[in-house]
Amino acid sequence: VEKFRADYKSLPYGVESVNLNFDIKSESSTYVTSKLRFVGGGGPLELDGEDLKLVSLRVDGEPVEYELTPDGLKIATPPPAPFELETVVEIDPKANTQLSGLYASSGNLCTQCEAEGFRRITYFYDRPDVMSKYTVRVEADKDAYPVLLSNGNEVGKGVDGDRHWATFEDPFNKPSYLFALVAGDLGHIEDTFTTMSGRQVRLFVWSEHHNVGALDWAMHSLKTSMKWDEDRYGREYDLDVYHIVAVSDFNMGAMENKGLNVFNTACVLAKETTATDGDYERVLGVVAHEYFHNWSGNRVTCRDWFQLTLKEGLTVFRDQHFSEELTSPAAKRIEDIRIIRSSQFTQDASPMSHPIRPESYVAMDNFYTVTVYNKGAEVIRMYRTLLGEGGFRKGMDLYFERHDGEAVTCDDFRAAMADANGKDLTQFEEWYKQAGTPTIKVTERGVKDGAYRLTLTQSNGGKPPLHVPIKAALVAPGGAVAETLFELTDESKTFEFPMAVNGEPYVPSLLRGFSAPVKLSFEPPLSIAELESLAAYDDDAFVKWDSWQQLAARVVLDKYHGAQDAPLPDYLVNAFKATLTNGDEESSLRAYSLDLPDYSTLALELEDLDPTKLCDALKATRLGLATAARAELEACYAAMAPADDTFSLDAAAVGRRRLRNTCLAYLSKLDGGDALCGAHFDAATCMSDSIAPVAQLASKPDSNDRARCLEAFYDKAKKNQEDLVINKWFAIQAMADCDGAIDNVSKLLEHPDFTDTNPNRFRAVVNTFALGNPRHFHSGDGKGYDFIADQICSIDKKNPQVAARLSNAFGSWRRYEPSRRDLMRQALERIKVTAGLSKDTLEIVSRSLV
Ligand code: ARG
Ligand code: ZN
Repeated sequence: VEKFRADYKSLPYGVESVNLNFDIKSESSTYVTSKLRFVGGGGPLELDGEDLKLVSLRVDGEPVEYELTPDGLKIATPPPAPFELETVVEIDPKANTQLSGLYASSGNLCTQCEAEGFRRITYFYDRPDVMSKYTVRVEADKDAYPVLLSNGNEVGKGVDGDRHWATFEDPFNKPSYLFALVAGDLGHIEDTFTTMSGRQVRLFVWSEHHNVGALDWAMHSLKTSMKWDEDRYGREYDLDVYHIVAVSDFNMGAMENKGLNVFNTACVLAKETTATDGDYERVLGVVAHEYFHNWSGNRVTCRDWFQLTLKEGLTVFRDQHFSEELTSPAAKRIEDIRIIRSSQFTQDASPMSHPIRPESYVAMDNFYTVTVYNKGAEVIRMYRTLLGEGGFRKGMDLYFERHDGEAVTCDDFRAAMADANGKDLTQFEEWYKQAGTPTIKVTERGVKDGAYRLTLTQSNGGKPPLHVPIKAALVAPGGAVAETLFELTDESKTFEFPMAVNGEPYVPSLLRGFSAPVKLSFEPPLSIAELESLAAYDDDAFVKWDSWQQLAARVVLDKYHGAQDAPLPDYLVNAFKATLTNGDEESSLRAYSLDLPDYSTLALELEDLDPTKLCDALKATRLGLATAARAELEACYAAMAPADDTFSLDAAAVGRRRLRNTCLAYLSKLDGGDALCGAHFDAATCMSDSIAPVAQLASKPDSNDRARCLEAFYDKAKKNQEDLVINKWFAIQAMADCDGAIDNVSKLLEHPDFTDTNPNRFRAVVNTFALGNPRHFHSGDGKGYDFIADQICSIDKKNPQVAARLSNAFGSWRRYEPSRRDLMRQALERIKVTAGLSKDTLEIVSRSLV
């Protein structure tokens, strides 16, 4: 059944307190006794429940009439409130392969309740506007489950023969989706943090014993985040203890359960020999994200799931800002912009397109999307751009002050921003209502009467105009001048730069810092010379980088439309060489400038897309650049060599590795490239340097170094039980662009280390192939589509969330040339009629076919 945002209704009862007892008998049997105190209201009581075996039910200690419904429980005539409902249910964590509710991971038990997993633990009003105080008791065998954890403070514990128990009290009201429980045999590290008011908080990071050596970075990330939220937002942590538990089987990245975050190991574990620089950055960002949720999500939560971006957009913005300040602001910003353009714009251009505040859903888990999260973060960033740093902070303070302890809406957030600043943000609501990527066209530009003017016209499929902040400046060989903010609120408006200009050849630098999630175009287009001028003289890292991307995109698209073997134009080769030789610029930015726009971003520029031609055009451009700039690539590669083997994570060291490995990727295409990769691999002392050459070699079936390096990579990971590194080994091969790719990937599924019950492992092979290997996924004979469709149907029986997410791989089918379009549609139709398909997958597939 489809739920609609417009249908929100408050519930007849409140739940004042929740008292839970978990009697863990074994991995496959837990008895959950729940005592709920209902207050207020009257009338029938209808609770959510899923896959529960009801053992007993009483109201105020007496048996009552009740009815089990397909999705819960109904008591038609409960006594007048307040009353207490006691239920006992039995659940089977081991059989819970969808990893929602209470489930087993490597023999340990843990929970995932967002969005609707709590109903798989006990009967409840499983929605975020029901906030209650929780008391939890957990009892289990003390050898099998020596560690027992739940939200809040441990207030009692004891041993009873070979069993033990612990009780927990969470003093803060919370919705059910923030409930958590962990029981298992785990190792940990411990530290403390003193908050700004001087309270001591005990910090723990837990995982399986063999992972304990890889937890320090997560702890460091946590402490840094706690301090940063105090410094930037004045937000202090509020419990005496904070736990992070890393488990191997997890559908998403991590979960912000109050005081007891549960994480995917991929977002916690980090050691120099197993984690790339990107992995370290992800751990930092995700640990921060979950920590920041304590205020933006937990203390102030969502009224209903349509408001998800209220907490996710805001918290992603906060973690992005944090990572900008802790790493390199410009490089981090470009990484985030790349995600918007390649994934979010692609979603906007697909049938799954939705506003950051969706209007309806069937399976809420399908709306944890790059639109709700990342475009949502861009919307928050626009408030900051419009209100200024200080005004934004005033708005945040008011938001937290007004709504602490409440479940609220995106409108409440907007009202706090408006009220704190005396600014009318009525029109800004359109950003929450409209799906799709707005376009901004620059129709007229130039100097008139000593002023530089330009006319901006916005459109988003005929929807009302948005309030768009456009940061702008004028660029000339001396640099950028006249920086200003244009607020475009009408469909079309002419703006004037606040500076008198003479005859200088200014180029407008617009959307600086990517000040709005829109597509900007000039009519007529900027000339090559103008783009070169922006690339050379602008001081805005985004516009500078983007100008190179536009130059490169033109060349790749020309190849796509014309001759693949046409020589590269000089301006592209020159810009490429200029980046390679410009030692003054930050290395990470240089690396990102050298990268070509990716397949998905370019695909958005094309109608009736021929994927093979696009892959060929990209490949030819890469090879052309490598050939033309070999000497510069070699020099830069050599210049970026590390002075010694000390591993550092500072921005300069990360940038150096990044730039060197980018040069390696180009050089690997040339004569001697295999040997260079082999030597790079042999000399590597950290994961970033080990994986880069192996990833290149994977696409070279004839190279001797390929087998040797892949094997060495695997053997080392296997010997050290490094599951996350084995995932990388699988992923590298799934991405490989060589003949027989589909057969190779099918063979990977037969490998003894492959399992479809671990989402990370499954995704390393299957999702990586579908999303990271466009040439072979889109193989003209339809074999790639068949393979993925089969995988979707089989994984759907075990884990619908994983299957549904993978189904998005077919989302862009309408954008392809007729033959692929047909094959992709057939694959979708075949999935759709599969017997017993989950509502999650059915929703994605049906929406895609509309
Ligand atoms: N709230 C979690 C986060 O920080 C994500 C939970 C997603 N869960 C899901 N079933 N889709 O981002
Ligand atoms: Zn989140």
